[in-house]
Amino acid sequence: MSDLRLAILISGRGSNMEALVEACAEPSFPARVATVISNRSDAAGLATVAHHGIATAVVDHKKFEDRESFELALDAVIEESGADLVCLAGFMRLLGEGFVERRHNRLINIHPSLLPAYKGLDTHERVLADGARFAGCSVHFVRAAMDAGPIIVQAAVPVAADDTPDSLARRVLEQEHRIYPLAVRWIAEGRVSLHDERVTVAEAGAPAQAVINPPAD
Ligand code: GRF
Repeated sequence: MSDLRLAILISGRGSNMEALVEACAEPSFPARVATVISNRSDAAGLATVAHHGIATAVVDHKKFEDRESFELALDAVIEESGADLVCLAGFMRLLGEGFVERRHNRLINIHPSLLPAYKGLDTHERVLADGARFAGCSVHFVRAAMDAGPIIVQAAVPVAADDTPDSLARRVLEQEHRIYPLAVRWIAEGRVSLHDERVTVAEAGAPAQAVINPPAD
């Protein structure tokens, strides 16, 4: 079996991308990063990844007439990289139905909340304003609606009485860096299956009706 190849899409800092790159640098990890693509040429993550000798590309949404032509250009770069799975990692463009459907069950995202609660932006501010006792993060398969789709893994983070949006974001981010590689590992090991839009993760080594099987050599 070969390793699963990832295309990671970023727009900014890229710390989740870095967590995936670092996981993939471990010889025993069953995935490799084929490419990192940003829609912004000034994304800080591009500089980080340059040190790892990984191919990068910029597909600037501002250079395209409409969303469809931007997404077709994105498609072309992803295809060219040979990626099996696309990982959104702080990618700040909403993707259209065509793009999402073309990568059905081959497109995952990380979101800094316990979905389906707190979709969208400013999740930590809203958690604190609501007095919620737990925040967290989710990795999910992407569907056409924003921050929607079957949840693969989540981590919960207790809210402290003196938390600010920044302090909470920091603790949630630590968990993001832990669960994103975990979700990729499970998918790459062929352990993740979907029934009626619910995810099942099989025990390691157990036969599964996986959404993605590890690529053959
Ligand atoms: C993360 O909190 C991620 O969950 C959200 O955007 C943020 C990106 O951070 N989708 P980074 O670019 O991965 O550091």
